[in-house]
Amino acid sequence: MNQELVPLISRQEIAKTVARLARELDQDYRDRTPVVLGVLKGSFVFMSDLIRQMQTPIRTVEFIRLSSYGSSTVSSGEVTMSIHLSPDAIAQQDVILVEDIVDTGRSTSRAIAALSAYQPASLKLCSLLDKPDRRRIPVTIDYLGLTIPDRFIVGYGIDFDEQYRQLGGIYAFANEPAPPIAS
Ligand code: PRP
Repeated sequence: MNQELVPLISRQEIAKTVARLARELDQDYRDRTPVVLGVLKGSFVFMSDLIRQMQTPIRTVEFIRLSSYGSSTVSSGEVTMSIHLSPDAIAQQDVILVEDIVDTGRSTSRAIAALSAYQPASLKLCSLLDKPDRRRIPVTIDYLGLTIPDRFIVGYGIDFDEQYRQLGGIYAFANEPAPPIAS
């Protein structure tokens, strides 16, 4: 599909934001070796930049897979999750959960509930973006990059129907696709 894209957040602003988040994490984790756990697929670009900015030694890098949007631009409300994690990777560890964006909060709250059951020593959330206007489930973002308006966005790991993840900046659609009729 060929959507007309409108720049929303530049590569430079993203880099500055990621560096600031890495400094905050370094400050708070300076005596610890955290597990950094990304939520696939969207967080993979952010997480790879974030860990390379961090000075704190990382114990392990882990991933879980969550999916809520399918091929639509609005959350379906259904979150499917597959965790290929050994409980030992999380238990008694300081875990930093990394998200690209918190939107309705459904994915993140589901992830936090699942990971909490593994009894980490601590569990904190680091999200590059927050879209608070669309929140349905309260989520505390411990390390937040930027708050954005209620626009559908792509780039820097974030997709529309699996496209646009490779863009270095973050863009909105000039003509936002109409959301499907809610059932
Ligand atoms: C996106 C994003 C978050 C989630 C946020 O993932 O990466 O995980 O949606 O939305 P929510 O707060 O409404 O739950 P998506 O389900 O699109 O899967 P993807 O990361 O594989 O693209």
